Amino acid sequence: MKNKLIYTYRNIFHKKPDKLFSSPCRINLIGEHTDYNLGLALPAAISKYTSAVVGKRNDRKIYIRSLNKKDPYEVDLDNISKIPTYGWGNYPLGVFYTLKENGYKLPFGLNIIYGSNVPMASGLSSSASILNLTVYIASIMYGYNLDETTIANIAHESETKYNGLKCGILDEYAIALGKKDKCILLDCKSNKYSYESIDLKDYALVVIVSNVKRSLTVSPYNKRVEECQKALTILKGHYDIESLSDLKVSDLPNIKTLLNDEILFKRVRHIVTENQRVRDFIKASKEGDITTLANILNKSHESLKDDYEVSGEYLDYIHDISLKYGAIGERMTGAGFGGSSIALIKKIDFSYFKENLYKDYLEKYHIKAKIFPANICDGLKVKSL
Ligand code: GLA
Repeated sequence: MKNKLIYTYRNIFHKKPDKLFSSPCRINLIGEHTDYNLGLALPAAISKYTSAVVGKRNDRKIYIRSLNKKDPYEVDLDNISKIPTYGWGNYPLGVFYTLKENGYKLPFGLNIIYGSNVPMASGLSSSASILNLTVYIASIMYGYNLDETTIANIAHESETKYNGLKCGILDEYAIALGKKDKCILLDCKSNKYSYESIDLKDYALVVIVSNVKRSLTVSPYNKRVEECQKALTILKGHYDIESLSDLKVSDLPNIKTLLNDEILFKRVRHIVTENQRVRDFIKASKEGDITTLANILNKSHESLKDDYEVSGEYLDYIHDISLKYGAIGERMTGAGFGGSSIALIKKIDFSYFKENLYKDYLEKYHIKAKIFPANICDGLKVKSL
């Protein structure tokens, strides 16, 4: 990737770029759709990267290009607005817009060539990966030297305000705070976090990309956010709560009566039980109890399938055959609606698991799944060239 990026840059600009940047993507071990309900999540950065080579310009233009796409985009820093025909380009451009809105100085233009081996639109946060990367590029090139959480907050603001997804902070924090071999226990109410070592012993986490693509902005994602808000408004009349995450599992029977709406109740039940699963997961991990960890993953998948209704046929099938081919725990990861899953399997069973799952899924859907070990890694990186 590095060589191809530098080669392309040299070909276009007839000089070498100044710096090489990279940003990982993420999985989420447990705590799904809890972030915008101010709850708990346990993500980790994994080693598939969006990278970019960058050079300073003498004018005030931002030139962006992707190795995977044909056309470059160019905008003037003094005149950035969302351009529907710019497609993926609106992610990086939204970052410059957001920086400006927040009073950051953009003293000169930049040439940026992006490349990526992150599976796109697959629930592994390819969008947060490019957003965080671009904030980091600006931070280093313009000398802001922002800390990780500020980078994540700017990237998140760009995703929600400029790109229109009503998402929580999970993805941006997971990527900016990534640390080798550590999971990030994230409290989305306080935005506080701690690093957790999850000892899986002879087991490993494997990522399965269903290759069923979806765009979250046109998926029912925003609808789920609205359903949660609706339930919260009703429940605030009865409980002293700021978010659905302030509710307890023991409140559920009463909540059912109060809501008197099966769909809204199921959404709330997912959020409340999923927050509890994060706590239980941390506890089981401290006790070295792999069987309980696996059961929690399975329970989370069931809840996302039946109560939150975001998994879908492909991820449900992958769940079933993963368990058939040796996984002891498996769940969809990320938003759902297609996308990816994580499975907990014995390390020595990886080849058997991969071969059989790939073959079975291909036979059924004529789609090639991507299956690889989750290698938990550091977050944002820069190198001078
Ligand atoms: C997407 C969103 C996150 C989070 C997850 C579901 O990845 O961007 O904010 O809501 O879905 O947990």
